[in-house]
Amino acid sequence: MEKTAIPRHIGVIMDGNGRWAAKRGMPRTFGHKAGAKAFRRLVENCLKRKIPYVTVYAFSTENWKRPQKEVDAIMNLLGEYLDEAFEHEEENKDICVKVLGDIAPFAPELKEKICKLEEQSKHRTGITVNIALNYGGRDELVHGIRSLIQKVNEGTLRAEEIDEEQVSQSLYTAGQPDPDLIIRPSGELRLSNFMIWQAAYSEFVFMDVLWPDFGEKELDEALRQYAMRNRRFGAVS
Ligand code: IPE
Ligand code: IPE
Ligand code: MG
Repeated sequence: MEKTAIPRHIGVIMDGNGRWAAKRGMPRTFGHKAGAKAFRRLVENCLKRKIPYVTVYAFSTENWKRPQKEVDAIMNLLGEYLDEAFEHEEENKDICVKVLGDIAPFAPELKEKICKLEEQSKHRTGITVNIALNYGGRDELVHGIRSLIQKVNEGTLRAEEIDEEQVSQSLYTAGQPDPDLIIRPSGELRLSNFMIWQAAYSEFVFMDVLWPDFGEKELDEALRQYAMRNRRFGAVS
């Protein structure tokens, strides 16, 4: 089976912001701020390494259970990133941004920022940065299934025509390759509802580093581990 050193698509579960802040005796929001910086670094480093797609898990469908103050702080950081990416067009000229998730419950200004940046950046070819926001793998499948059923009801799709490809194309990641590599820092060993369909044959790298401390060195370590894996996809190597 073909071995490629550089993955086409990396998924990153940006976890450990709260613990990073707690270790410093600071509020959790301080950790999210540092996490946002680590996210910007990650995008730069993926671009430098010519990785075509990176998906970051920024806010899950389950994260609404957190205190309102924390949710608000995360949304504010997001708004800041979107503003900055929109305003510094030249610096971001190689970055196509796409939000994965159900943005319906977001504040109107935030939705508008998302749409503006997606529109401005959609033809950029350096790297696609998917920001998973109010994202859950199960929720994504529910949305996808509904859209397929709607097509069946409208008569544009027959139930027998629904195959794996149709399901893939009904998801937020339609048109994109599945993640080759999923990185989870913070020491947790789970997916927490991240890309459950797309991860069928992903390679996993779990790391103890907390997300705000994740930098170039940690990315290269994950890529090094990935390059050593033998991906068989069920076949014989
Ligand atoms: C990840 O860090 C950020 C989000 C889930 C939004 P956490 O906030 O989960 O940090 P820990 O896991 O509590 O350390
Ligand atoms: C996963 O982290 C979600 C994001 C990183 C956005 P969580 O911190 O929410 O996951 P659990 O609760 O530890 O599984
Ligand atoms: Mg966490």
